[in-house]
Amino acid sequence: MSTYQNLIAENKEGIFIITINRPDKLNALNRQTIVEIGGAIKEAINDRTVIGIILTGSGPKAFVAGADIKEFMSLSGDQGKAMARSGQEIFQMIENSPKPVIAAVNGFALGGGCELAMACHLRIASENAQFGQPEVNLGLIPGYGGTQRLVRYIGRTKALELMMTAGMIPAQQALQLGLINYVVAPDALIAKCVELLDVIRTKSPEAIGSVIRAVNAYDTTQKGFEAELVEFGKCFTTEDIKEGINAFIEKRKPQFAR
Ligand code: COA
Repeated sequence: MSTYQNLIAENKEGIFIITINRPDKLNALNRQTIVEIGGAIKEAINDRTVIGIILTGSGPKAFVAGADIKEFMSLSGDQGKAMARSGQEIFQMIENSPKPVIAAVNGFALGGGCELAMACHLRIASENAQFGQPEVNLGLIPGYGGTQRLVRYIGRTKALELMMTAGMIPAQQALQLGLINYVVAPDALIAKCVELLDVIRTKSPEAIGSVIRAVNAYDTTQKGFEAELVEFGKCFTTEDIKEGINAFIEKRKPQFAR
């Protein structure tokens, strides 16, 4: 088993649990963490003893509160686009994993955190979880597939509202909208994921892989993901992103020019 700087990875009776471990930064996804998640997913896929994967966050407050905003400072448009592309690739690897990946959402799942949960095959949330795509607060848009997957999961109507208002929705509402599979008490979260994987482990692994490939082929168009990269990159060339990020760092509301 490899060791990781920002993750805890453990194989518990064939269930590979990846815990994102930057609780003092609400598990925000800096570059290192995203690359490590990719490495851990690969490790789990290649380990013949692993039947499924659980992704969760460390601490009681957050699954992942987004991409690490501090790393956005002074990126050019091209750098922003390249960053989104490499994140999209790792999230696509999760979605294409032939072994089931379950997000155990133990708190805030915002921005890249919501996108990471959406790249998983199933999402179980604790009662205190909150979901949202608040990038417009920063003069940005989702860049890790959120504009595409959120629409697919909850439909244009609510997806546009969430992305344009930067609103957050609690776990129960996420359940009603079809964004997640179950809501459970915080201390039952991992047990519920294990319960589902224990059912899946009695089924044909070849057939589970085929289900995932077939479902992923339901919508194969990559055009939307490409459009997201272009728009994400453009955001880095605006004055709005400077104001948005400075406001976050200074813990104040942004004042965007009209
Ligand atoms: N990137 C970088 N750092 C982040 C972060 C992010 N996405 N989200 C939280 N943090 C850091 C905060 O800067 C703070 O660090 P500090 O103690 O060094 O100042 C720490 O995590 C705790 O966050 P804080 O904001 O103090 O917690 P809170 O309970 O008051 O608020 C949130 C929680 C989730 C509402 C708030 O952190 C937030 O809005 N985060 C950004 C969400 C977002 O926009 N995500 C999309 C990014 S593209």
